[in-house]
Amino acid sequence: VSGRVEGKVALITGGARGQGRSHALRLAEEGADIIALDICAPIRGVEYEAATEEDLAKTAELVEGLGRRVFIEKVDVRDLAGMRSATSAGVQALGSLDIVIANAGIAICAPWDKVTAEIWNDTIGINLTGVWNTVVTSAPHLIDSGGGSIILVSSAAGIKGMPFFSAYVASKHGVTGLARAFAHELAMHSIRVNSIHPMGVNTPMSMRAKGPEDHGRQVFEAAVASNPKIVGMYTPSLPIDEVQPIDTSNAVLYLASDEARYVTAMAMTIDGGQTQY
Ligand SMILES: NC(=O)c1ccc[n+]([C@@H]2O[C@H](COP(=O)([O-])OP(=O)(O)OC[C@H]3O[C@@H](n4cnc5c(N)ncnc54)[C@H](O)[C@@H]3O)[C@@H](O)[C@H]2O)c1
Repeated sequence: VSGRVEGKVALITGGARGQGRSHALRLAEEGADIIALDICAPIRGVEYEAATEEDLAKTAELVEGLGRRVFIEKVDVRDLAGMRSATSAGVQALGSLDIVIANAGIAICAPWDKVTAEIWNDTIGINLTGVWNTVVTSAPHLIDSGGGSIILVSSAAGIKGMPFFSAYVASKHGVTGLARAFAHELAMHSIRVNSIHPMGVNTPMSMRAKGPEDHGRQVFEAAVASNPKIVGMYTPSLPIDEVQPIDTSNAVLYLASDEARYVTAMAMTIDGGQTQY
């Protein structure tokens, strides 16, 4: 199949790199124009390298290389007014809006007694309030288009209480709930809302590929050493350690396309069985 989202416009937060860029390219390959938004700046407490304006510009260049139109803007998903104006500017530039992917997020590892107020507030602010901001600022444009598909990026940690990431787990469970609630209220406008739940994905956020000198990895390994029994919660049943961005992008593409026209309020896992283990 090709042209599975031909002529549609998709908005993606966190579009500078990682899964956000992968979603942009997979949807562009199948005919969509792209609005990519990203903070392109470091966030306090986050151990891995921040995305840059060059990363966001690279996403735009790659989308254009696929023959599709693209609009990019630097904006923080925590900024409701900024999200409203960036989204409107993108819709004005590309003509409409059909698909929204609330993908921007951060992950900070900390055992429960090392979670500071800053870690809590930043994680909830970006991963949960940022998703709410994305939906409430984009849904009016989908209503104008006569319907659409909203995909909220949660995590296996939005289904299971993954250890040593309690703020992240709370934020991602919140995202799971938001998808369910919005799905019902927006259904009258022919807008579908689903959430996706990946296990570890090979992106700069992932600790897996980093060397033993990486501080985020050291924090995780120390937490595991202090409480080894519960780390088994991360086990997938398939013989894999992580998935690739293309795996989550293919799930996003399905949910964005008309192949999923009656699929809504679903929590879709891409997790090798981990959330059922
Ligand atoms: N990598 C994993 O193991 C994994 C697993 C499950 C779910 N997820 C989720 O997938 C999503 C994408 O993560 P990724 O793996 O591509 O990581 P990533 O760090 O490569 O990408 C996240 C992007 O979001 C942007 N971002 C962060 N805070 C922002 C803000 N306040 N406003 C706007 N943009 C902001 C970053 O600049 C970055 O470009 C996140 O929601 C993450 O929680 C990741």
